[in-house]
Amino acid sequence: MKLALRNRPDRRHILVLEDAYHGRTITTMAASWPHTGDPFAAVQSQFVRVPHPNPYRPRLGMSPEQEGELCLELLEATITRGVAGGVAAVMMEPIQGNGGHIEFPQNYYEGVRELCDRHDILLIWDEVQTGFGRTGEMFAADHYGVTPDIIIFGKGIGGGFPLAGILASERLDGFLVGDDQLTFGQFPPSLAAGLATVQAIEDDGLCARATEHGAHATRRLLEMAERHPLIGDVRCPGLMVGIELVTDRATKVPATEELQEVLLLAEERGVLFGESRYGSLGNFLKVKPPLDISTELLDRALDVLDEALTIVEMRR
Ligand SMILES: Cc1ncc(COP(=O)(O)O)c(C=O)c1O
Repeated sequence: MKLALRNRPDRRHILVLEDAYHGRTITTMAASWPHTGDPFAAVQSQFVRVPHPNPYRPRLGMSPEQEGELCLELLEATITRGVAGGVAAVMMEPIQGNGGHIEFPQNYYEGVRELCDRHDILLIWDEVQTGFGRTGEMFAADHYGVTPDIIIFGKGIGGGFPLAGILASERLDGFLVGDDQLTFGQFPPSLAAGLATVQAIEDDGLCARATEHGAHATRRLLEMAERHPLIGDVRCPGLMVGIELVTDRATKVPATEELQEVLLLAEERGVLFGESRYGSLGNFLKVKPPLDISTELLDRALDVLDEALTIVEMRR
């Protein structure tokens, strides 16, 4: 955000998507979904949030592509008529992680890029969850064939060490000396871990493995969906896998209590699944193993999920 504003100093806004999650600093909290009872509002900036498509829960029964078009129109209306002072950047997660693994239709990815180009606005992709092999490509930007101006990364790159960073287009002016200095900004062991992680992703073909294992997990989950009415939707790509739980497939009522029961039963059996807690409906279960997981371990985790779903459904 600092880099974007440094490069568009005459603009006042960074637009973000509804249900976004960008972190927990005072400013990234404000850029995320609206926190209820947020005690920091007094010193926070206000971000304008724009609607985005949700292929499983589209507006007005639209197709994902129609909803993509609608959301592009709304984004353009916000840029041209919705804010005073001009837009410096649009910031989005390519797949909303904590919002519930929401992948957008391809026309939306391409359309946002086109809109940004047309209005001379920078496009920031927050790839903290999707970057470094998770979707089966090094970046989601490769997966969707869209080149943002700035990519934010973290998590996977450190292989467990604390490390985050940004990639920026060479067309942008960089920071001035002292502009972006942090006490732990360049911790050498983390940087070494980052280099080793990239090497391992390349040497061990972990992007291709994420694609293969992701396809395997998705196949198994789709097969489970035939037996488990709790599974409303199965989402990928790569190892960004997960399921949305619903109490009724027709009405898509979020199965939030059931999700907690499934998570607990799995934990008791030694498997930790993630959940999308922030910004989402609280019914999304994440299957996000390390990229180098063996097929046997992945199958064991999915067997446990199968068993947990069976138990929870029997209790109902
Ligand atoms: C998409 C996304 N962006 C940003 C962040 C925040 O990263 P950090 O906790 O390193 O500030 C997270 C953390 O979960 C995230 O999922």
